[in-house]
Amino acid sequence: MRVLSGIQPTGNLHLGNYLGAIRNWVKMQDEMDSTSQCFFFLADMHSITVHEGREQRLANVREMAAALVACGIDPDRSVLFNQARVPAHAELCWLLNGTARIGWLNRMTQFKDKAGKNRESASVGLFAYPVLQAADVLLYQATHVPVGEDQKQHLELTRDIAIKFNTDFEREVFTLPDPIIPKETARIMSLRDGSAKMSKSDPSDQSRINLTDDNDAIAQKVRKAKTDPEPLPSEAKGLEGRPEALNLIGIYAAMAGTNADAVCAQFAGQGFGAFKPALADLLVGALAPIRDRYVALKDDHSALDAILEKGAAKASAAAEPTLRAAYDAMGLMR
Ligand code: ADP
Ligand code: TRP
Repeated sequence: MRVLSGIQPTGNLHLGNYLGAIRNWVKMQDEMDSTSQCFFFLADMHSITVHEGREQRLANVREMAAALVACGIDPDRSVLFNQARVPAHAELCWLLNGTARIGWLNRMTQFKDKAGKNRESASVGLFAYPVLQAADVLLYQATHVPVGEDQKQHLELTRDIAIKFNTDFEREVFTLPDPIIPKETARIMSLRDGSAKMSKSDPSDQSRINLTDDNDAIAQKVRKAKTDPEPLPSEAKGLEGRPEALNLIGIYAAMAGTNADAVCAQFAGQGFGAFKPALADLLVGALAPIRDRYVALKDDHSALDAILEKGAAKASAAAEPTLRAAYDAMGLMR
């Protein structure tokens, strides 16, 4: 089993990233046996699709590395690195550009969303983004890729690229990866609008819980979260048509390690006045230690740089055989 996932080092992590992605990474890392390995990386090469100044970009990579370690990624057990330090990603991406079809990329919903109406002015990098993502995954022969639901399409594309490459060059160079999507927490929604996903790009900070929020901010955001006047039902199916209530119950269930039915049974008949303080306590209890570890680590640049350098050396060694096999299959002398 080879587990691999990446995250763009852009801005603060929020509860959606934590529950939808990173907590799952930590779980998979903690369940590994000696025959398996986990690779987690900061997709800084992908982040060039968002304009950022030099200093900000440097800061983002270190901050995100600190956040991942604070969330429980152990750099001694998992390979933790930043993509730019491992040139094999960019190299394989170029090779796969010969395999990926424009028609496939045209169907990518993330590109359509991010490019918006004015596609002509979107960068080539934004269009080709999923090819680099395919290279990230295929380089390590990853078998399991824990991601949020929004990345499912990119993983399907990765499989299509791998199949076409293996077929075209008549060699099994790449392993087909499977996405691992946590069902219950696949989409954590905004605290202000149960139909929009919690996102760092939402202009309202009230819409999300950041992993850097202090205890008061967490409690205040939960208190102000949009809800409805109805009491909580005794079973989760009573939450149909109540997206905000469903979201908060889902967050509670995820944080408490239980399911929505159990949370409904616990709070049946009570209003949000009773439920919200319990949710806030649960969130503060789980997030405060993460925040404290993050604060302690984030300014220790030399420790963070050492972690990333060591991770990149391990990643480069692991990527090398696949990169060599891809060049060779294509008849490119290296
Ligand atoms: P954002 O939407 O805030 O820009 P990213 O696109 O950088 O977040 O996502 C980073 C990771 O977190 C991805 O694996 C993504 O699937 C996951 N993720 C982001 N937002 C959510 C959410 N609201 N619920 C569940 N998972 C999420
Ligand atoms: N595109 C992913 C996101 O936006 C990040 C990412 C880049 C990734 N490369 C990856 C995720 C490889 C999984 C595997 O969240």
